[in-house]
Amino acid sequence: MRPLPPERFDLGDALLRWVRPDDAAAMATAARASFERLRHWMVWATSLDLLTEETMARFVADTLADRERGASANYALRTPDDTITLGGIGVHERVGPGALEIGYWLADGATGRGLITRAAALLTDAALECEGVDRVLIKCDEANERSAAVPRRLGFRLDGLVDDDRFAIQSGRLMIWVRDEPIR
Ligand SMILES: CC(C)(COP(=O)(O)OP(=O)(O)OC[C@H]1O[C@@H](n2cnc3c(N)ncnc32)[C@H](O)[C@@H]1OP(=O)(O)O)[C@@H](O)C(=O)NCCC(=O)NCCS
Repeated sequence: MRPLPPERFDLGDALLRWVRPDDAAAMATAARASFERLRHWMVWATSLDLLTEETMARFVADTLADRERGASANYALRTPDDTITLGGIGVHERVGPGALEIGYWLADGATGRGLITRAAALLTDAALECEGVDRVLIKCDEANERSAAVPRRLGFRLDGLVDDDRFAIQSGRLMIWVRDEPIR
């Protein structure tokens, strides 16, 4: 099993911690409230029917199983007192040997404060410290300017554009951003 990034990070104005089973309801509430923004970019959020507590509970169960086998760590981004879900960010093995991928979303009301940029910076550095990891990828729809701004701001390089109708649901083209050196 590969060691994953730590369980908790303190962002000062937010808390980043591993997702837990009792997060499902709050995740569903936050995602449903942000549906109009999320539905353009996130495959799992293209319909309100997908954003139920039951669906989120299944997602969390899968997440815990993946984490058990060292394949991914999903984090809940929460208010500092750990009462409200502001979004989510995860580190995933799914991009092949030597690499981890970071994916993220924010709830309405949590954007524009640098939360995801700062969380992604912490997780990039933590991922690069994991055994056998030499690069971190962020993939996003070519049309998703706000998402692309995150890796750009963090000094990732644009490594390629690939046709992908499955995940790039707006443009059909996926930007692949890569970072192989720590940010801090
Ligand atoms: C992608 C997404 C998470 C980006 O949200 P965001 O609010 O733009 O990102 P951040 O939290 O990093 O905030 C960046 C903003 O905060 C500002 N900011 C303030 N303090 C900052 C700090 N300390 N560090 C970095 N940025 C800071 C930045 O200048 C930027 O402002 P701008 O929007 O005026 O350019 C959000 O748009 C989203 O949830 N989209 C839908 C889901 C999605 O697309 N996910 C990605 C799929 S690939």
